[in-house]
Amino acid sequence: MPNSAKSLLDIDELLDNDLSSIFKRAKDFKARGFLRQIYSQKVLASCFFEPSTRTKISFEIAAARMGLRSVSLGDAGASSMAKGETELDSFLTVKAMRPDIIVVRFKENAELRQALGESEIPVVSAGEGSRHHPTQALLDAMTICETLGNLHGLKVLYSGDTLHSRVAHSGASLFKRLGAEVGFASPQNLVSKCFQPDAVFKSLAEGAPWADVVIGLRTQTERHGKADHSTATMFDFRLDAKNLSELKSKALIMHPGPCVPMVDFDPNLLNDPRCRVHQQVMNGVYIRAAVIETFIKEDQ
Ligand code: CP
Repeated sequence: MPNSAKSLLDIDELLDNDLSSIFKRAKDFKARGFLRQIYSQKVLASCFFEPSTRTKISFEIAAARMGLRSVSLGDAGASSMAKGETELDSFLTVKAMRPDIIVVRFKENAELRQALGESEIPVVSAGEGSRHHPTQALLDAMTICETLGNLHGLKVLYSGDTLHSRVAHSGASLFKRLGAEVGFASPQNLVSKCFQPDAVFKSLAEGAPWADVVIGLRTQTERHGKADHSTATMFDFRLDAKNLSELKSKALIMHPGPCVPMVDFDPNLLNDPRCRVHQQVMNGVYIRAAVIETFIKEDQ
């Protein structure tokens, strides 16, 4: 079997050097633009086995800015998955065409994960079930640091369905590593079981005065099949003016998207100067460009 390439499936796999160079390159791209189309002979292939807007488009824009061409498997209805091909077979088929880097979003799938980890072509996770979303963690960290300097000593609060949130699990792990405290405000039936937070709150209103950064979460109904997001309980965790009335004047309001209007996010907050939702999306392009640059092989 050929040697595995260096891939990014889990934020914890990044070495300190990788982390600092990704943040530095993303900052450079944002400050100076994409000066050279250095990867014009290279191809990025994406396989999204779950829907995406932000992650997929931002990887493609980042690739285009650096000269790569992007090809995409498309959704299940447009590929041979509609004829019964599995996610694993689809991934192996795309890999056999030898793109230079592959971006994959998938539900928890041990068989596929093993194939990604053993790939001789670099693979970057664009989200894995309820556990991993490494590039979202990176772009959220970049967004916080742009305004508040760095994460050391900051208190970051996730509000909502932490149990099923790959955004919260990857972000919490990275923020702790960078010196922050992490708090969770979640309904009792939607509390994360795989991350031990520094602080737990029964509602967003209770946690808001503690936080320097609040990150709202969409209820992942696709992972548990219950319409918990429509219950009154979830409104105690919604980003809105009432629940955030005790938030500090310099604190940040964030949401990875997609936001469900008036369920987990009041769109009026987009006018709040503390809100960073669109900045997060913009930074996604720079972070993903830096990640592509870090993982693509120069010698292919
Ligand atoms: N934040 C995020 O992953 O958004 P998409 O599902 O639109 O990619």
